[in-house]
Amino acid sequence: MAETWYRTYGRGRIDIPCGVVAALALWPHKSSGASHAPDLARYFITQPATRWPPTVGQAAAVHWLRRPDLISVAGPMLRWYKEDLSGDTLYAIKAVADTALKHGVLLHTGDTDPYMRSHIDVMSWTLVCLRHREDRSWLAEHHTPDDVADLLVSLGIGDDPPLAASLHEPAGGTGNIFRAVAQHLRERGIDPGGWTWSLQDLDPLAVAAAAVNFLVWELGPGANACCGNTLSEGDLTGRALALRAEAEDRRRALLTSAEQGAAFLRAVRSLGVAS
Ligand SMILES: C[S@@+](CC[C@H](N)C(=O)[O-])C[C@H]1O[C@@H](n2cnc3c(N)ncnc32)[C@H](O)[C@@H]1O
Repeated sequence: MAETWYRTYGRGRIDIPCGVVAALALWPHKSSGASHAPDLARYFITQPATRWPPTVGQAAAVHWLRRPDLISVAGPMLRWYKEDLSGDTLYAIKAVADTALKHGVLLHTGDTDPYMRSHIDVMSWTLVCLRHREDRSWLAEHHTPDDVADLLVSLGIGDDPPLAASLHEPAGGTGNIFRAVAQHLRERGIDPGGWTWSLQDLDPLAVAAAAVNFLVWELGPGANACCGNTLSEGDLTGRALALRAEAEDRRRALLTSAEQGAAFLRAVRSLGVAS
């Protein structure tokens, strides 16, 4: 997928291919064993390039209704869908989407069971592969590989984890350690929704990817992510919670005005003023 982006678009704008993969991972249609994935992939591949920005917007909107804060944190890789994109960029977006679909992204992220959607950190692979091609100064950026994270977590947490606890990742990347912990809990019949997950990182795209992952992995209501410098700013959980409260207020205001608009239209129609 990263190779496709550099072949069709060139360097830069890695937020766009990250957002394409994020939208596919967030796509709300899920099934047992991701059995729908081949058909959905074929459908997406038949779509014209111009359909991709609205498709990304739709995937974001569905999750915004539940977690406006996480979709806001994911903004750095999703917002481009509102831009006026050139034909060449749309061509590259479609090429990336087709590549991701042909390589089974929906198989990794399309299962109804979040445990089956959390075997690997798709967003980490996407971001790191793109970044290493974009800018060699980022060559030091590596996230803990999936199987190493699984091993570390099984050694660190042990066989009898509590039903509720708090985890804080001060340099969390895309959240792969949280993924491994959630798998460890689910394997022991514990719902990760009972835990609190607080992640921060310096890199806005890594934090955006983590926010997408938290939704795909279903870490639950206690999952928060925030972008900032841990060394100079310390624990940013308070900022994440304040941004969450603001995002929920904005959602409430928007839904209230939408309801008022619908009520107004119903009243107008009942008076026979408009059809
Ligand atoms: C080696 S990665 C590890 C990511 C994750 N903990 C994992 O195990 O997959 C290190 C991360 O630290 C982040 N980082 C480096 N300096 C930081 C700082 N001062 N504040 C917050 N994050 C920082 C980088 O952006 C990078 O995502």
